[in-house]
Amino acid sequence: MNQIVAGHSRSIPRRTVPGADLQQVRAMDAQDPLASFRARFTLPDGTIYLDGNSLGALPRATPDHVARVLREEWGQGLVRSWNAADWIGAPLRVGAKIARLVGAQDDEVIVADSTSVNLYKLLAAALAASPDRHVILSETGNFPTDLYIAQGLAAGGLTAGRNAVVRTLPRDEILAAADAQTIVLLTHIHYKTGERFDLAGVTQALRAKGALVVWDLAHSAGAVELGLNRAGVQLAVGCGYKYLNGGPGAPAFLYAARDLQPGLVSPLSGWMGHARPFAFSADYAPADGIRRFLCGTPPILSLAALECGVDLALEADPAELARKSARLCDLFIACAEAACAGAGLTLLTPRDAAARGSHVSFAHPDGYAIMQALVARGVIGDFREPDVMRFGFAPLYVGYEDAWRAAQALGEVLAGEPRRDVVRAEVT
Ligand SMILES: Cc1ncc(COP(=O)(O)O)c(C=O)c1O
Repeated sequence: MNQIVAGHSRSIPRRTVPGADLQQVRAMDAQDPLASFRARFTLPDGTIYLDGNSLGALPRATPDHVARVLREEWGQGLVRSWNAADWIGAPLRVGAKIARLVGAQDDEVIVADSTSVNLYKLLAAALAASPDRHVILSETGNFPTDLYIAQGLAAGGLTAGRNAVVRTLPRDEILAAADAQTIVLLTHIHYKTGERFDLAGVTQALRAKGALVVWDLAHSAGAVELGLNRAGVQLAVGCGYKYLNGGPGAPAFLYAARDLQPGLVSPLSGWMGHARPFAFSADYAPADGIRRFLCGTPPILSLAALECGVDLALEADPAELARKSARLCDLFIACAEAACAGAGLTLLTPRDAAARGSHVSFAHPDGYAIMQALVARGVIGDFREPDVMRFGFAPLYVGYEDAWRAAQALGEVLAGEPRRDVVRAEVT
């Protein structure tokens, strides 16, 4: 394990990064109003975890809570816990908590399924609700699942015969191409570059042209301030395992503005979205409100873990989270550029904090090998094809010293010979 990154108590490295030194970044941590949240997470010693944009860290409360749900609610309560422990209410209850995080009404968010499945439900429901809309317009290079889901719908899916088409365009051409026949599917914060759309401005401009807008908030919820209602957001999905720290494969969330809900019927008309699931009637009738977007039995253990992550995020001031995220990214960019000058790094992420999310991406032809060398030193980020190294700065548990040390480590790796023959793992 490399000396520089193996724990914060090690001696001060000789080489300091211009723009910030260790004393400065320690002072920033000492003044950080969110600093106490770090102790609420389990993070391995000697690790600087910069991949909360892929899988958030484990809240300390989660294991005991999930164990209690297992032992008491399942072990002792058995099937009675659907009522006694309100398992049946979990998708709405946790959804209402996420609603508070994203600036929506309690009855506008539900936790269900995965981001991909929720996208499918919303896009198919929107296509079915408005026969004139038959174009799904998205950004070239959007996260693949968003495009795949749209393609699957257009290829037939459950809307066979609707003749929906998928178009992708560079982001600066989307507004001009949008009209009353389009559903525009956008990811608020780009998974690769970290670029952020102006949520309110873009939503309003697209709505003014008659488009219906569906936002993917996978990299946004828990990282940046959202204010969905204030921004006029109509439909959105987001994921539970990144900045909401809900654990691997945590269920996702789905948002539908209150006024749109009655007109949207889920194509996955399962019994949990029925108006009266336990009436066991022969014909489907959607529940009033957001519960109509449930399909099957909710994953109670995963919901229990997600609720711990959401509860923790709710304790933090969203403005502070956004401020710290911006400062962490600023610091990392400055320090990495100083430590790696001339080493062939290209910054892909906007320098303007308002125009990016909470991760920083650098391109380098040896990006995969460099990231593996960093991981071996205890600095965990990730890699996206073809050459992108991503460094996520989850403001609840990443500190300024972490950002500084990660930049130092990147400089050290680049100054040495990165291995070019590293075998790609399945998950990069
Ligand atoms: C923008 C975006 N959308 C969707 C997903 C994944 O969706 P799912 O939860 O269905 O795996 C990711 C995963 O990283 C993502 O970055």
